[in-house]
Amino acid sequence: MEHKDIYILGIESSCDETAASVVKNGREVLSNIISSQIAIHRKYGGVVPEIASRKHIEHILPVIDAALESAQVSLEQVDAVAVTCGPGLVGALLVGLSAAKSLAWAAGKPLIGVNHLEGHVFANFLTDKNLEPPFLALVVSGGHTALLKVTGYNSFEMLGQTRDDAVGEAFDKIARVMGMPYPGGPEIEKLAQEGNPKAIDFPRAMLDDPFQFSFSGMKSAVINYLHNEEQARRPVNRADVAASFQEAVTDVLVQKSVLAIKATGLKEIVLAGGVSANKVLQNKLAAAAEQAGARLAHPTKILCTDNAVMIACRGYYMYQAGVASPWNLNAAPSLKLG
Ligand code: KG4
Ligand code: ZN
Repeated sequence: MEHKDIYILGIESSCDETAASVVKNGREVLSNIISSQIAIHRKYGGVVPEIASRKHIEHILPVIDAALESAQVSLEQVDAVAVTCGPGLVGALLVGLSAAKSLAWAAGKPLIGVNHLEGHVFANFLTDKNLEPPFLALVVSGGHTALLKVTGYNSFEMLGQTRDDAVGEAFDKIARVMGMPYPGGPEIEKLAQEGNPKAIDFPRAMLDDPFQFSFSGMKSAVINYLHNEEQARRPVNRADVAASFQEAVTDVLVQKSVLAIKATGLKEIVLAGGVSANKVLQNKLAAAAEQAGARLAHPTKILCTDNAVMIACRGYYMYQAGVASPWNLNAAPSLKLG
């Protein structure tokens, strides 16, 4: 029987990246266009939602055009349009959704609403062509921290998540207090390279529930440390603070991931979300997973942070399962995972 290639156009606009991509047969990236607003939001120390929406409106159509053109695929050849419908900023999400709906409707293609966090997990399928469920996923983004069991391409089981701050949020807030630009995660990682990770012993909240996280105590401890040292007029070794915080955060993430590997008996764990770009996290988790008899996979750097390749990939597996969204699909700012 002749095999028909499937082309999915993916669209992403949940936060501060306007992105579009064409993916062939779920795993082959034909284009990956990302227009980042980071430089604009940096002036304000974080994402300003109204500015994000306006910039998405300016960029969405050129970005989609560029994705189709660079993939050498026409809208007519596309089998479905996949778009992030949540979680994210409502105004930002609506821009991508409106563009996706209009294009899909005009071209007579199905519309597929994708959960952004599931998209982050699926970024691993583009980097690791042999990856197949079941596996564990440690989701660490700007707004979410969770341990997820991926039981099939369309079935997920939440093991646990954060009670308060997300990991990326803690990185960003601490960086801000230390006077570093947004987004703080990569800045802290860079500064930490010159610091001693054992210099300051910040608290590591392990909680009774093995798969739940809490990072607000650690975040406050770092901020209090900085304030106390400043008030006592003691010089602060900023690199030591960055390295010690990064060490504490990654210790908790790694220990809980190992507990999940042991509890589920799964042999593969993947990283997902912006913080998965962190090399210390990647290296520590890879070593600990191996000791526990499992293998770590993580996306390439460009696919760790927000992109539309992961949305097209997630959309492909929903398309294969016959899932399509209604035309009144709405933005779901607090869409849940699992
Ligand atoms: O997944 P993402 O791009 O957007 C959301 O869906 O939230 O994640 C952004 C988060 C930010 O908090 C950013 O500081 C963090 O990912 N991040 C990092 C690194 N690169 C990005 N955190 C630690 N180390 C990094 N290298
Ligand atoms: Zn994201």
